[in-house]
Amino acid sequence: MHGRGVIITDNLEEDLSRFLRATDYDRLFILTDTNTREKCYPLLQNNPLVQSGRLITIQPGDGNKTPEQLSTIWQALSSEGASRSSLLINLGGGMITDIGGFAGATFKRGLRTLNIPTTLMASVDAAVGGKTGVNFNGLKNEIGSFHTPVCVLIDCRFLRTLDRDNILSGYAEMIKHALISSEEACAQVFAFDPDKPDDSLLNQMVAQSVAIKERIVEEDPHEKGIRKALNLGHTVGHAIESLSFEGDAPLLHGHAVAAGLVCELYLSYKQCGFPSSKLSQVVHYIREYYPPFFFHCKAYDYLYERMTHDKKNENGVISFTLLSDTGGKIHINQSVSKERIFESLDFYRESFGL
Ligand code: GLY
Repeated sequence: MHGRGVIITDNLEEDLSRFLRATDYDRLFILTDTNTREKCYPLLQNNPLVQSGRLITIQPGDGNKTPEQLSTIWQALSSEGASRSSLLINLGGGMITDIGGFAGATFKRGLRTLNIPTTLMASVDAAVGGKTGVNFNGLKNEIGSFHTPVCVLIDCRFLRTLDRDNILSGYAEMIKHALISSEEACAQVFAFDPDKPDDSLLNQMVAQSVAIKERIVEEDPHEKGIRKALNLGHTVGHAIESLSFEGDAPLLHGHAVAAGLVCELYLSYKQCGFPSSKLSQVVHYIREYYPPFFFHCKAYDYLYERMTHDKKNENGVISFTLLSDTGGKIHINQSVSKERIFESLDFYRESFGL
């Protein structure tokens, strides 16, 4: 599939070679973390053009998506003479495409980046659409910018090496894309069994999910309006993710988003008339596959405080994206009372028997 700079490839080596041969750049850099250096880079390293590049390897994990590691990347780019005409390949999950994208956005005010996502999360979400950044002060992606990669090459072979938790993490974003798009997409995501993934069906669903995201990003690249639909589940989800990082069981991003979807669809039901039968379907699916995240009602104030930092907020008011139905019935910039937000946290805990 060839979209706006996004290519779903079944021949990564060839498509990358073609892209590099057709592109003018002075120096090539390849950013990996220690995992993708070992497991994914070997797929590319026989290519002489890739061999001529300088490899930069950083520590993996969202907890390492920090200004300090960003500085390590800037340092490597600087000491190897990167210029605005250089090209940076980000090979990895969302952590790498986010931090590498931001390094690309900021070094000498911007050099081109090419993303090769290696997780489901990065393939359907993080690597596509140009959001880049690092975490700061315990807040997700607090410092960042929009910097569209010149190309995204998605090779579904990488997905076969992912463990269940990582499949589920990316799958939460696919559920979100389905909920904001069409009845057909919803029927398909809720019929899929992530415990017995059918590879070719998953590849096809990845392509459809990316197409949903691309359509929205094309309409509103800088999130002034409809792109906020892509934040469904993330206002509460990011807060839950931050809470999990305070303890000893940090959640993968998509697991927190799954919990956030339960809460925000409850708010959608209460505030916008989202059908209760569809709410039950989503809760049932998430309860079936995703591990519950335990939190006490004493954590509600902390979660609320985190939500006050959400990037969609205006004038200090927490702003949600809610749905009145599936099939594109999206309501952005919705304010919700503190009591109702707490009620949605109660709903999550009761739904999961916590
Ligand atoms: N992950 C949401 C967006 O890219 O807008």
